[in-house]
Amino acid sequence: MKKTLIIANWKMHFNTHQASIYLSRLNRITSIHRNLEVVLAPTFLSLGQLAQEVDPRKFKLAAQNAYFKDEGAYTGEVSFSMLQGIVKYVIIGHSERRIYFNEDLPMIRDKVAAAYRNKLIPILCIGETKAERLANETKRVIHDQLTTALANLTSEEVRTIVIAYEPIWAISTFEGDIAKPQEIQKVIDYISYQISELYGSRVAQDVQIIYGGSVNSSSITSYLALDNCQGSLVGGASLNYEEFANIINKAYLLRK
Ligand code: 13P
Repeated sequence: MKKTLIIANWKMHFNTHQASIYLSRLNRITSIHRNLEVVLAPTFLSLGQLAQEVDPRKFKLAAQNAYFKDEGAYTGEVSFSMLQGIVKYVIIGHSERRIYFNEDLPMIRDKVAAAYRNKLIPILCIGETKAERLANETKRVIHDQLTTALANLTSEEVRTIVIAYEPIWAISTFEGDIAKPQEIQKVIDYISYQISELYGSRVAQDVQIIYGGSVNSSSITSYLALDNCQGSLVGGASLNYEEFANIINKAYLLRK
């Protein structure tokens, strides 16, 4: 069984100094948990510093984004190849990237391929808007986002991907509705079903599906208790190191 993934997506919060203080405080109050992988996703600017300071037995690092070309005249971008040796994971296709930075399906497909080309593990975010949900389009949206993103991958690659189901209506910075675990279960089942249709049930069993959207230390247990929900991508609640440590502890108690 894979380790449960608990990921802090700090989004555009914390300068390097603040990130470093957070890490040392979190480090002080958390222990190494065999069945958990705790991942921190700071901004690009703090990644280099945290990579020097982090205890890799306790925490792994993730980038929040990267550009699909390996190098070249792309002002302002950071490539997957530059992240090698610094991070284990890269978050790809977060809804905030899709919405504010116009990342479309082909670009996300190219980023997923670039991650594998550079030996990094994608945390692929997928999820529907409130309007799509109300129009009963959740399955179509999930289907389109998944099939495009995985299009150029081998089944050996797909096997190692992390898929974060993040319904946009449940993310705190958008509508922030609290998603009912039963509702999340249906979509997790659908994601698994889609992967098994495309790559077979053996591959689908290996793919790690996690949930994100307004998760905190009170709700984490109800999501991790879902069938085949193997972790969480936490935004707002990860900004407070004590709250994030509580989330880690709840996950540990459930999986120990
Ligand atoms: P919140 O936990 O703030 O809802 O954010 C979720 C998210 O977008 C994580 O990537």
